[in-house]
Amino acid sequence: MTYYITTPIYYPSDKLHIGHSYTTVAADAMARYKRLRGYDVMFLTGTDEHGQKLERRAIEEGVTPIQFIDRIVDGIKNLWTTMDISYDKFIRTTDKEHVKAVQKIFKRLYEQGDIYKSEYVGLYCTPCESFFTDHQLVDGKCPDCSRDVEEVKEESYFFRLSKYQEALIKHIEENPDFIQPQSRQNEMLNNFLRPGLEDLCVSRTSFKWGIPVTFDDKHIVYVWLDALSNYISALGFMSDDDTLYKKFWPANVQLVGKEIVRFHTIIWPAMLLALGEPLPKQVFGHGWLVIDGGKMSKSKGNVVDPTVLVERYGSDAIRYFLLREVAFGQDGNFTNEALITRINADLANDLGNLTSRTVAMIEKYFDDGILPVIQETNEFDESVQALIIDNVTKMEQNMDQLFLNSALENIWLIIRRLNKYIDETMPWILAKDVANRAKLAGVLYTLSEGLRIVSIMIEPFMPRTPDKIWAQLGIERGELTAWDSIHSFGMLPRDVQAKKGENIFPRIDIKKELAELDFVETKDNKTNKEDKISKEDKISKDASIVENITIEDFSKVQLKVGEVIKCEKVTKTDKLLVSTIKIGAQTRTIVSGIAKYYTPEEFVGKKVVVVTNLKPVKLRGIVSEGMVLCASDDNGDLVAVGPLGEMVAGAIVK
Ligand code: ME8
Ligand code: MG
Repeated sequence: MTYYITTPIYYPSDKLHIGHSYTTVAADAMARYKRLRGYDVMFLTGTDEHGQKLERRAIEEGVTPIQFIDRIVDGIKNLWTTMDISYDKFIRTTDKEHVKAVQKIFKRLYEQGDIYKSEYVGLYCTPCESFFTDHQLVDGKCPDCSRDVEEVKEESYFFRLSKYQEALIKHIEENPDFIQPQSRQNEMLNNFLRPGLEDLCVSRTSFKWGIPVTFDDKHIVYVWLDALSNYISALGFMSDDDTLYKKFWPANVQLVGKEIVRFHTIIWPAMLLALGEPLPKQVFGHGWLVIDGGKMSKSKGNVVDPTVLVERYGSDAIRYFLLREVAFGQDGNFTNEALITRINADLANDLGNLTSRTVAMIEKYFDDGILPVIQETNEFDESVQALIIDNVTKMEQNMDQLFLNSALENIWLIIRRLNKYIDETMPWILAKDVANRAKLAGVLYTLSEGLRIVSIMIEPFMPRTPDKIWAQLGIERGELTAWDSIHSFGMLPRDVQAKKGENIFPRIDIKKELAELDFVETKDNKTNKEDKISKEDKISKDASIVENITIEDFSKVQLKVGEVIKCEKVTKTDKLLVSTIKIGAQTRTIVSGIAKYYTPEEFVGKKVVVVTNLKPVKLRGIVSEGMVLCASDDNGDLVAVGPLGEMVAGAIVK
């Protein structure tokens, strides 16, 4: 049994945000689930590294495209490690093998007449790397990002997409699972396929950063033909060794965000039809994680940094939130408040309490924390067991349809039922009477066995938590943690030995946490946000938000002169510097978002003004004890603020 699942390959142009990690976390949960069910899994992710936008970005930064991209790809890989993404292969479209495969695919399609040379006249949106027809524009602008489009005319190769229109319609109609959810299938048929397909421009001559067409080196392969091929080039398609291709293709599921469903259900299958290769069994278009109803994007300045969140709450909590909050296929809203509320309610309360109460009661009521094997059932047991088994079955069905949030709901129905069972059976009352020992042991056994089943079910979503629960239940990875062991109730030996451990999900002080997150994010996103706000906007906005304060208000802020005596870059971010700043007799560690404007060398020796009574916050694991004042303007320039004449470090500024 094999299972091949893919995510889209990510553009390495921007730092990835929490929305990007949604696709990968979802794919990872599926990959882990299938592995647990005994499948031989191939989970592919990677990066989409060609195109004019990246070429331009590299030029702006004065480096070669690959230098620019390598750095970002490293960051992406680190992020996946931090989020426990268990990919089997990471493909980069600059990999030699991929480049060769694309060149062979292009040549073959050309030789068989599916690619031909012509001239392209079109409207092009550079940031989106997409061509549009006149009627696709919205108010004359790019329908995806609302920016200006340019008219482009050039000699190009075209792929005969139109030739495959009928075959695609037929395939979709005959394979209702091919495009999921259903609504996306209708959208593709009615909005794109039935109105008619136009041939697709698949080469460019106006820029260089792409895969050269081997037989016409003026041309490079243009975006989709290059990018989509990754799913098969990663398996060695058309290479000397195509063992993996033979083993894993066609893919079981290709997971994509809703805005690229069109490319994956029209261009991609048409390419495969032209190559005479089988089509993926399913393309699943998921929804977006949105902020206030809008998609996250760097240009909007509402990017939420997943590394910050993982650092604070752990990857299991973030993974849980993403998969629980977004109903698969639909959009889900991201707010820090929703995140913390879920962590507290579902993880700290429901799952955390079930674990700690169960284990604590076994330890408290029985010698050495071991349950006696003589146990009695009670009137609730039967229905509890039935509910567990029923939800195991439903969870598996939901997983097979990629309804990840419903699968989580099934697990939480069990968890909540078990917590309710504690209230119903009242073990603390049973514990008061020795005549009830067997009954008490029975209750605690049901709880332990229920918890064991739950701990196995959460593993695809939260790979770190099960081990912690198993340690407390006194079991090791093996038969008792295998997936098959949850299909009947009662696999756990009766003489459970419990050992209290740390709280698996400590409660978060929501008020305090929101304030700190706000601070971290404002600092992190400040430059982005300011980039975006136009000058007029900014002036009117400033005018509307600035309120007068009294001298008492002002005197609450303690400002002092500080001298930077040491400074270095904070690892894994290109924004932050960490400085040791001397203020009078003491020194402080302060993290500042100024790495784009000062090198550590430049910053050492500077006298600056520091806010010294700001509540310390943890930034990237470093406790920052204050803030260096800086001035910044509309052009994105920034300078630190300091005394104009000689002044000792420690002097009060007022
Ligand atoms: O589209 N919520 O790359 P990409 C949920 N290179 N998903 C989101 C999201 C959000 N807020 N923001 C982005 C590309 N994504 C191409 C793909 S495949 C042959 C080429 C998802 O980096 C998005 O929907 O723009 C997409 O599935 C993935 O992140 C990569 O987006
Ligand atoms: Mg995109």
